[in-house]
Amino acid sequence: MPSLVSPAIAAGSLRRSSHPSVPVGTDALLRPWQPSDADAVVKAFTDPDIQRWHVRRADSVDEAQQWITSWRAGWDEETQLNWALVDRNTDSLMGRVSLKGVDLHDGSAGVAYWMVPAWRGRGLCSQAVIALCQWAFNEAGFHRIGLAHSVFNGASCRVAVKAGFHAEGIRKGAALHADGWHDMHQHALLAAPAGTTQPV
Ligand SMILES: CC(C)(COP(=O)(O)OP(=O)(O)OC[C@H]1O[C@@H](n2cnc3c(N)ncnc32)[C@H](O)[C@@H]1OP(=O)(O)O)[C@@H](O)C(=O)NCCC(=O)NCCS
Repeated sequence: MPSLVSPAIAAGSLRRSSHPSVPVGTDALLRPWQPSDADAVVKAFTDPDIQRWHVRRADSVDEAQQWITSWRAGWDEETQLNWALVDRNTDSLMGRVSLKGVDLHDGSAGVAYWMVPAWRGRGLCSQAVIALCQWAFNEAGFHRIGLAHSVFNGASCRVAVKAGFHAEGIRKGAALHADGWHDMHQHALLAAPAGTTQPV
């Protein structure tokens, strides 16, 4: 059945281009994951806050390498786009920023992130989210980036606010964590102001 609407992002347009690196300020870089990042991923996942909010742990370097393989495959599959945030001078891992749940037709995705504890509290995560959203809107053609965090995750909410996301409300009992169901605070950032299209 023919669609009446052209997709916001043509299928294949991401896959046909190479996975880009995105500068974050002068000292950091979002770059595609490499298999050699596995050790640093295992170390990051020893952090209780990353385990708590990402509801998993990494038990071995092999397991982290499998994650990295799937994170890399997401670009060609155009389903999830994953970047390692690294120090531009040393290439050491600072964190992860991802666009998950990519919907090419609506030009939408959800941003997710964690930071290695030693790199927190310097504004880096917010800067990385801003840089990635600019790439998503200006280079890739996305229209809407969502962001959801547990109502108990105050640091994540601050990242959303500092990156310019507006709050859309709370979805009750929307995500299962290790300690039970959490209400999720939903935010979003749009490429252009919302509400410009009037229903016909
Ligand atoms: C959330 C996280 C990615 C933020 O990384 P970061 O690099 O420290 O982020 P930023 O420095 O850009 O901003 C953090 C903000 O949260 C604030 N913050 C830190 N802990 C907080 C808390 N418990 N409650 C409220 N705000 C808090 C900081 O003060 C800062 O705000 P400010 O700049 O106004 O002072 C990091 O804490 C993390 O990896 N947490 C564990 C994983 C996680 O929660 N991921 C998100 C799941 S939705």
